[in-house]
Amino acid sequence: MLSEASKNSIVGVKRLLGKDYDEEMVQDDMSKVFTSFVKGPNGEVLAQLKYGNGTRNFTMEAVYAMILKKQLEVADGYNMKDGSKAPPVKEAVITVPDYYTERQRRAVLDAAKIAKIDVLGLMSEHAAAALAWGILRKDRLPEAKPTTVAFIDIGYGSSAAYVVDFTKAGMTVRGVATDPNLGGRELDLLLVERFGKEFKEKFGTDYKTSLRAAGKLRLACERAKKVIASRVPLAFVKIDFFMDGIDVKGELKQEEFEDLCGPFVGRVLKLVGRALEEAGVSTQDIQTVEVVGGAMRPPPVTDALGKFFGKTVDKTLMPDECISNGAALKAAILCPRFRVKDYFVHD
Ligand SMILES: Nc1ncnc2c1ncn2[C@@H]1O[C@H](COP(=O)(O)OP(=O)(O)O)[C@@H](O)[C@H]1O
Ligand SMILES: [Mg+2]
Repeated sequence: MLSEASKNSIVGVKRLLGKDYDEEMVQDDMSKVFTSFVKGPNGEVLAQLKYGNGTRNFTMEAVYAMILKKQLEVADGYNMKDGSKAPPVKEAVITVPDYYTERQRRAVLDAAKIAKIDVLGLMSEHAAAALAWGILRKDRLPEAKPTTVAFIDIGYGSSAAYVVDFTKAGMTVRGVATDPNLGGRELDLLLVERFGKEFKEKFGTDYKTSLRAAGKLRLACERAKKVIASRVPLAFVKIDFFMDGIDVKGELKQEEFEDLCGPFVGRVLKLVGRALEEAGVSTQDIQTVEVVGGAMRPPPVTDALGKFFGKTVDKTLMPDECISNGAALKAAILCPRFRVKDYFVHD
């Protein structure tokens, strides 16, 4: 997709929503993608996209609204377990990253308004994942002395670690730490640099001179990362017609990937350390470690977490879906039409 329409795709909208064009993080993000952005009349970020025969500027709220509408479309008419069709969705609980400011939260509400969604409430991503964890185990959880769980969520461009106490009746978030600039994207960029250099030396192709090639390389590297993360010994970065009709191919060995992940893993552990400190607990106080988020999959990450906590790292939640599951459960709790027993959330 990036290679075909790299300039007409927007990646990481969630990170640009409710932010100013001139902010450092925004500038940095914009330098890592292929879309054209311009500064709006109020200093906001506008994506300049091809539209019909010309170009058109889109606010991040408008783009986010399109994503929300698409989600409604997917949910509408969903086949239920009993064979019936789900009724159209009008109300929703929407999750937001833990680092979101008041203004970013307002931008989400504006996007929801454009998408014509009645927002029952905004919920932090950490609370949503934890709620999904807790409700599933409600009956097995203790009445009084809580079970303490450490969650590590590693996403595309940001990550969070949090410590939560669970009992039968509800959950209390004890501490949260976030790193808004740590995520799977970092690994993609390291691979792009590594293979970009190899291909330049071997094949004389310099991706830095072609947006299209840069897009292809990014996609191929992300794909290789996913393959090598499944613990196979070897993955390939292979691109036909990379540049000037030249095909390129390179190898990524598991050991090399592990080395490459070193600093990344270091940052993950630092983030976890901050969350424990915030919660006032040590690794011994943690009964269970649960990882979520797409980018927790590389073995060096889970191996290091296992060593750090001295226990197996659980993946009992669906890493890509648990946050939306938590939001859906919260919506069901809030909605009188559904009979879901309350589970309190102290955040
Ligand atoms: N199988 C996989 N192996 C390694 N990384 C993966 C895999 N699947 C997804 N990822 C990475 O996870 C990240 C997306 O995680 P996600 O939790 O969906 O992001 P966010 O919640 O920040 O939008 C991306 O960097 C993606 O490359
Ligand atoms: Mg995620």
